[in-house]
Amino acid sequence: MLLRKRFHAALTELTDQPDEYAGMIRVAADAKFGDYQSNACMPLGKKTGQSPRDVATKLVESLKIEDLCQTPEVAGPGFINLKLRDEFLSNTIADMLGDDRVGVGVTPNPEKIVIDYSSPNVAKPMHVGHIRSTVIGNALAETFRFVGHHVITDNHLGDWGTQFGIIIYGYKHFGDPDVVAANPVPELASLYRLTNQLIEYQKAKASLPKLSEKLAEAESNAKEEAAAAEAVEKDEKASNKEKKKARKSAESAQRRIESVQSDIASTQAKIADVDNDPKLSALSAEHEDVPAAVLRETAKLHEGDAENRELWEKFLPHCKDEINRIYDRLGVTFDHTLGESFYHDRLPGVVEMLDGLGLTTKSDGAVCVFLDGFDSPMIIQKRDGAYLYATTDLATLQYRHEVFECDRILYVVDSRQSEHFEKFFAMAGPLGMDNIELVHVSFGTVLGKDGRPMKTRSGSLIGLESLLDDAVARAKDVVCNPERLANMSPPMGEDEQNQIAEVVGMGAIKYADLSHHRTSDYRFDVDKMVALEGNTATYMQYSYARTQSILRRVAEEQNIDDIEDWVIKNVTADEIQLREPAERALAIALIRFEEAIEGAIGAYTPNQLCDYLFDTAKSYSTFNDACRVLGNTDPVILKTRLALVVVAGRVIKQGLRLLGIGVCDRM
Ligand code: ARG
Repeated sequence: MLLRKRFHAALTELTDQPDEYAGMIRVAADAKFGDYQSNACMPLGKKTGQSPRDVATKLVESLKIEDLCQTPEVAGPGFINLKLRDEFLSNTIADMLGDDRVGVGVTPNPEKIVIDYSSPNVAKPMHVGHIRSTVIGNALAETFRFVGHHVITDNHLGDWGTQFGIIIYGYKHFGDPDVVAANPVPELASLYRLTNQLIEYQKAKASLPKLSEKLAEAESNAKEEAAAAEAVEKDEKASNKEKKKARKSAESAQRRIESVQSDIASTQAKIADVDNDPKLSALSAEHEDVPAAVLRETAKLHEGDAENRELWEKFLPHCKDEINRIYDRLGVTFDHTLGESFYHDRLPGVVEMLDGLGLTTKSDGAVCVFLDGFDSPMIIQKRDGAYLYATTDLATLQYRHEVFECDRILYVVDSRQSEHFEKFFAMAGPLGMDNIELVHVSFGTVLGKDGRPMKTRSGSLIGLESLLDDAVARAKDVVCNPERLANMSPPMGEDEQNQIAEVVGMGAIKYADLSHHRTSDYRFDVDKMVALEGNTATYMQYSYARTQSILRRVAEEQNIDDIEDWVIKNVTADEIQLREPAERALAIALIRFEEAIEGAIGAYTPNQLCDYLFDTAKSYSTFNDACRVLGNTDPVILKTRLALVVVAGRVIKQGLRLLGIGVCDRM
């Protein structure tokens, strides 16, 4: 941001940490005080032992911002209030108008960045948990690429793990080769489900005693907490804060009981599903050994057993077809899909290399690396010779270092894997790869509408595809209902409606995910996601469609063929005159586009871009209500407003595109 750069220059005279203080510029909370405000002088004054107001006065003296702002004002304890010059706003809007990149600069320091995202374990159907990595990773890839970094996307498929042991076992025992050959994708999925159900059944039965113990524990704990809370309640000396704290603990102990009860209910449901089905219960009796047997099938695959290898080669393409169907729908692509199997042959080399560097220790027969600052070691080979997830990640890092020669790698992976990544990143130094910046872009969980993990009654995860279908169907109800369709001219045919429903449905799911800070959990609520009002993709898409509809009507009114092109060619900076507050507010929102992108990139937080788009769409809506575009005879007013409409449309469209979300010309 230009203002920040100017502050930076002036701050170098006052401190040796200009970066820190230059960042303290915010959009003013109240337009009365100006457009932006710097809060830098309070901490800076404190640090240098001067009065913040004096620091502010000094800073204002050395600031060179006459071309951007009116004379800055020092206010209150030492705020600096800034009001942008109208000419600066008009010039910037005019520049954005004529710029394909809508005013977003290209980075002066392009880096080679590998983004490891989506990376599902294939062979089992994709579920809602897979959406986060896919959607966040894709948005980051688009955004980093847009600002000029060299982005390499890599889908690190789990194509070598136990899931394959599961379908191999299923195929060998329950599969009919002809049926599978005729209809591989659904057949393999159902073999996976059946085998997995038998495994889960065994596990569920084995876990019941533990769960009852847990319940008893939770109940006695809740009793204690409740008694303690009652005692505090009666205690006259206890403060309100203490009472509240005790009440909270008692409530949370109560909730813990409910959560264990719900685990027990779903475990019992899992067991009942098999017990109540004669065919399943017969199978389960016959295959009591299934959990261990699938592990043996997986081990055989890894050891190069010819039959299992052949089956794996036969099944993998079908598993890929299955996930590619989802990627196609989401409009997500990858430069590389180098799954875990790709690195299999390199794993012995990883262990050798670590041995050679003297980093390994044998512990209980397993090969381990003990790391400073960690209680437990990183295991890289089990005593039975099997390699681990971490071993593969080390081989992958080596490959990316040598072949991609990257500067940075982003791992867009669930926060439950934090410990794995912390340990794994700590290995980069000893391996001589600490010139690569390694980042775990972690994220929280997708919860159901009720705030609980999203599962079916018996605890299996809900398939991703059915959720996508559901979102599209609801999108159609919201956007193409009879009432809205009646107002469409020309009428909207079935094809167009379906196309819009798909764009709105996919956008809704993606935006709902991206608009939450990635580290927090969020509730998957389709009705909220597709709503036309609020911080939703639908609202943003609708705002975009409104810009296009206005442009179409003006084109008709003025008899102009390509209205956007006409505006770009015919509106000059001095014709953009922001007289109405709503015009000015919209212009300020629009010129902040680059700033929003910088924020989203800086902390790997696409939600910052979502917040920005929401603010911008709201400013656009206020402008739309207050400032007529159609039927204006004053050419300056018309041109000013047309320029704002065009730039608003392009900012929203481009912003959504960076989030992986499409738009429609009308809806
Ligand atoms: N397949 C893994 C999972 O589903 C995620 C892989 C993430 N990428 C990585 N390089 N470890 O949990």
